[in-house]
Amino acid sequence: MKDQAQNKQIGAGMDRVDGHLKVTGGAKYSAEYELPNMTYAVLVGSTVAKGRLTSIDTKAAERAPGVLAVITHFNSPKVPGYETAGKDPSQPATVGGPLKIFKDDKIHYNDQIIAVVVADSWERARFAARLVKGQYAQEKHKTNLEASVGDAFLPTAAKKNPKHPMNDYQRGQTDAYKTGAIKLESEYVIPTEVHHPMELQAITAHWEAPDRLTIYDKTQGTLATRRDFAKEWNLPEENVKVIATFVGGAFGNALHSWPHESAAIIAAKVVNRPVKLMLTREQMFTNVGYRPYTWQKLGMSATPDGKITAITHESIGQTSNYEEFTESTLAQTRMMYQSPNVTTRYRLASLDVCSPIWMRGPGEATGAFALESAMDEMAHMLNLDPLEFRLRNYTEQDPEKNKPWSTKFLKECYQLGAERIGWNKRQLKPGSLRDGEWLIGYGMGVGTFGAHRGAATVGAQLRPDGTVLLQCATTDIGPGTGTVMTQIAADTLGLDAKKIRFELGNSSFPKAGTQGGSSTVNSVGPATQEACLALKEKLRTLAGAAFASAKKEDVTLTDGYLALSSNPGTRVAYADLIKQGGDKAVTVEAKPGGEGQQYSMYSFSVHFAEVRVHELTGEVRVSKLVSCADAGTIINEKTAGNQMKGGAVGGIGMALMEAAHMDDRFGRYVTKDFADYHVPVHADSPDVQVAFVNQPDPHVNALGTKGIGEIAIIGVAPAIANAVFNATGKRIRELPITPDKLI
Ligand code: MOS
Repeated sequence: MKDQAQNKQIGAGMDRVDGHLKVTGGAKYSAEYELPNMTYAVLVGSTVAKGRLTSIDTKAAERAPGVLAVITHFNSPKVPGYETAGKDPSQPATVGGPLKIFKDDKIHYNDQIIAVVVADSWERARFAARLVKGQYAQEKHKTNLEASVGDAFLPTAAKKNPKHPMNDYQRGQTDAYKTGAIKLESEYVIPTEVHHPMELQAITAHWEAPDRLTIYDKTQGTLATRRDFAKEWNLPEENVKVIATFVGGAFGNALHSWPHESAAIIAAKVVNRPVKLMLTREQMFTNVGYRPYTWQKLGMSATPDGKITAITHESIGQTSNYEEFTESTLAQTRMMYQSPNVTTRYRLASLDVCSPIWMRGPGEATGAFALESAMDEMAHMLNLDPLEFRLRNYTEQDPEKNKPWSTKFLKECYQLGAERIGWNKRQLKPGSLRDGEWLIGYGMGVGTFGAHRGAATVGAQLRPDGTVLLQCATTDIGPGTGTVMTQIAADTLGLDAKKIRFELGNSSFPKAGTQGGSSTVNSVGPATQEACLALKEKLRTLAGAAFASAKKEDVTLTDGYLALSSNPGTRVAYADLIKQGGDKAVTVEAKPGGEGQQYSMYSFSVHFAEVRVHELTGEVRVSKLVSCADAGTIINEKTAGNQMKGGAVGGIGMALMEAAHMDDRFGRYVTKDFADYHVPVHADSPDVQVAFVNQPDPHVNALGTKGIGEIAIIGVAPAIANAVFNATGKRIRELPITPDKLI
């Protein structure tokens, strides 16, 4: 988009194209598809955390009314891909893999699926599922990370590859903070947090033929899911179709294929009818991943005038006993601040639990809690304003990769945010501000996440009714992907947004990566733009002499005609172009260029919090929250603002409420629902203020975008924790900051 002045839609806060469907019940989610002969599946989970399933009594369930099948590992059909997985010599050696349900009698975690009951109604399936009883040879389990710290290990992938990012990192001298004049060493803990999107994980599985599978599934990647299940059943990928037109939030929990999906597909094979399966809220705690419980230690030293001299950041995250899950907990520490000496060490502890999976802002959000809390602790030791301390350690180029930033407007974010929160009201001495029994404090936290871009393909087609149809296999888990792509297409084509339809969430559409890692607009945006340009070009070649000599940028699609912007009288009716084949779809793949080699590309954010802490009850209220981001070009200030607000609210949950509590005696979570796993509601959130620098990054793509989803939450929890310290003088290093920790 060279001439920004021509952009009418980009930047505008266009309403969501699917907003009406979503609020009127017209949007169909994966558990809402009705197919002829539908059956319903309910899962039975193990009641021990480790051991073997020695027998399972399914007789009563099988006799229950309406039951069509009770499937366990004792009677499950063989899943052909289970046998061949990992045997393909062309595949790289992986470290474990998703749990293969019903493959053997091993129990890996409590509530692992041991049976699936299929009946002609959900109620009957649920009733029968309660009649299934397993017998176990129980073994001693480990579910406590703190007790397993001694067994922590370097991820196998890092051991095998010295260049793997999970290896220990060193710049300057090892653990140099230990000899620093002014130093701190603190430990931080974040508990297991569960994604808990509003929409429960659900799948409708339908074998349309013995070798053709269609699934309506909650997934962030239609093609990744297609690949997983095609492999599981040894099918060509084109025989598997994955539909995820609407996804009711995910935050990362649909970045992985899970056992319940395999169970539904096996069940559909057994009963030879479509099977619908939806997890319960309780099963969302146990079977579809979570943000892993993580222990961190951060050591830092600085000079009296506020220059950081060394940082050591260590982390141990939990993983399962069948898969090594890793995340970038230490990434921000390596590049955010100038420091001649930086050491990071990342380790895993294998526990008898379900595998974790990236949860919003994944490792960076976890790591930023330690780093940004430590920054605040050091600023306090130095008697410096924490914003000033960060400015004194600002990096004008990436100190990890020794490369220039593609763009970095974090200073501008600091300034915007400080003004809006009223940072000048902050007192250096904790406990200085109060309003009656409420102590008032201010805190800040910084976030960053790589500006990732992958290849993506979009198909564009002029329809006989004068509309343009775009298609892409990408998903939209809530950020408004279809909306921003419509805006990009409208500006590229010169066509009214109402005449454009962007279809997504279908594995049969042109290829795109998974919606994750804040990469969708970076990747699908340019593909949309290029597909639209290709469509215009194709129509131009069909439109005759007057268009052949015109400049490409001059060609525009209007209501019913291809026209020249400089001379609207020069036009050709779509009907004439379509007669010549102008309605054939043009499909274009857009790939990242080589700039990644020259620049270090990141989005940046800073969050400022004002909290009020009740001095008698320890209740914390976030009274103000300001989030400022450098995320490149903002395509839609409304949907982008929504993402920032959503991330900020997630950060409030992380800081003050969210924790899945494990009863280690049984290896089972005691939190089962929203009555005991607390997430913020409107009453817990202030009106979050969002500001964007909105400066294009010319190196990620031609649109100038960098990504928003993750930086929206990274740094929020420490901003709140730091504000609590400023209010009370109490430093809470174990989240969430519940009242008992403050009184
Ligand atoms: Mo995100 S944690 O990449 O869904």
